[in-house]
Amino acid sequence: MSSQSRQSPISINTLAARKRNGQKFACLTAYDALFAELISSSGIEVMLVGDSLGMVLQGHDSTLPVTLDDMEYHMNCVRRGNQGSLIMADLPFMSYASATQSLESAAALMRCGAHMVKLEGGAWLAESTRLLYERGIPVCAHMGLTPQSINRFGGFRVQGRNPEQASNMIDEALILEDSGASVLLLECVPTDLGKTIANRLEIPVIGIGAGPHTDGQIMVLHDMLGVTPSSIKVPKFVKNFLPESEDGIRGALEAYAKAVKDGAFPGPEHCFT
Ligand code: KIV
Repeated sequence: MSSQSRQSPISINTLAARKRNGQKFACLTAYDALFAELISSSGIEVMLVGDSLGMVLQGHDSTLPVTLDDMEYHMNCVRRGNQGSLIMADLPFMSYASATQSLESAAALMRCGAHMVKLEGGAWLAESTRLLYERGIPVCAHMGLTPQSINRFGGFRVQGRNPEQASNMIDEALILEDSGASVLLLECVPTDLGKTIANRLEIPVIGIGAGPHTDGQIMVLHDMLGVTPSSIKVPKFVKNFLPESEDGIRGALEAYAKAVKDGAFPGPEHCFT
């Protein structure tokens, strides 16, 4: 384990304190025990067991085929390798179509060792978010480009570009915060909108392609190591940290964590206007 291993585990309180103190935090996807150990001992606060595993591990062209069983398997692997990061787990497509179903699916992932679950969607998730919160399950609401709705969007497109869409997104983010969400993740939105939402919300906001003003940043592990499968178009918000590492994968993970915390990543070339 590296010298950066932590004394105390990261919790939702740590993330809230980071936001209050204006300290950025780093998040990365993880799918197995070995990478979980490397990531969590490299200064990265949050690991997401993301349903992106359907695309980067399973070879699908979307996240829709991923099942709750798949998520439980990878969640267990990541828990075994974790060295104190907060583990967030995705509820996969159609595993939270009703509030009751969201409770059952979230409970399955919490039993595997997740500290928080992530659900994609806007205000329609208010009831599920409230129910999970009241039952002791922290929620991350994922808004903007939500990959499970890719067929409704007609492709991987930047969201919130017109003023009406942007204003709806702000309203829905506030509703989810009021319903008990502990974190918001914003994907692929213009920098100004990312900034407005991060400023308006009291809870920490994690961005991916949402500009430099969010409280945390997240990336898919394979993207930040420059090994995105050839079937996937590398998004604009991706940076490969491996070339600037003098210590292979561990050096790249540490460089990513540092760049996020220093505010050096994302740069203007990774953002949408
Ligand atoms: O599943 C995933 O990896 C995600 C990130 C893209 C944020 O949701």
